[in-house]
Amino acid sequence: MMKLAVLISGRGSNLQALINACAEDGFPAEIVLVLSNKADAYGLERAQNAGIPTTVLNHKDFDDRESFDAAMSAKIEEADAELVCLAGFMRLLSDSFVRQWRDRLINIHPSLLPAYKGLHVHERVVEDGARFSGCTVHFVRPAMDEGPIIAQAVVPVLQDDTADDLAARILEQEHVIYPQAVRAISEGRVRVSAERVLIEGSDLPDGAMRNPAG
Ligand code: GRF
Repeated sequence: MMKLAVLISGRGSNLQALINACAEDGFPAEIVLVLSNKADAYGLERAQNAGIPTTVLNHKDFDDRESFDAAMSAKIEEADAELVCLAGFMRLLSDSFVRQWRDRLINIHPSLLPAYKGLHVHERVVEDGARFSGCTVHFVRPAMDEGPIIAQAVVPVLQDDTADDLAARILEQEHVIYPQAVRAISEGRVRVSAERVLIEGSDLPDGAMRNPAG
């Protein structure tokens, strides 16, 4: 079983998707820690309801980003986690944290990276009149929303979509591909080569439209 730490700041619907996946028979991972930088994050309740240990570290209690990140690392190590999953964790991470967890630190972002990095993604997609958007699970690198892509899902943008409509449609797919990516990594099928992700067993004959991680 791959031991996961999930880092959150809020609602935690992706956390819930991971909790649900881990509860399935044969899923090769378990969540050993949910860490939030906000004491009122709803995701903490989701974790507690599932009997998962939680920790709150308020970034405001620390002098700088480095010391906050070092405290997070210590908690993650204490819990024996092997893979760190960012799930709506709204803090930038220091280079040293990213370096320490290199290729063991993944994020989900609600766009088809490398398009639409950063915040207010859905507003910008709707504003641009893009026909498709989606979501991406990727290994984390020091630059925000950058890093080798593990899984993506494409989602259509409808003409009368508001940013909220689109966000909701994409969120459903986030909940599909995040567990898929975690499963593939936990099964040892994922490796990074020259900053591209290779997934063993994903080049099946009927796999043209399939998500490699799924
Ligand atoms: C998701 O849209 C995720 O892609 C982004 O932050 C949001 C978190 O939502 N990184 P939730 O807390 O998982 O519900």
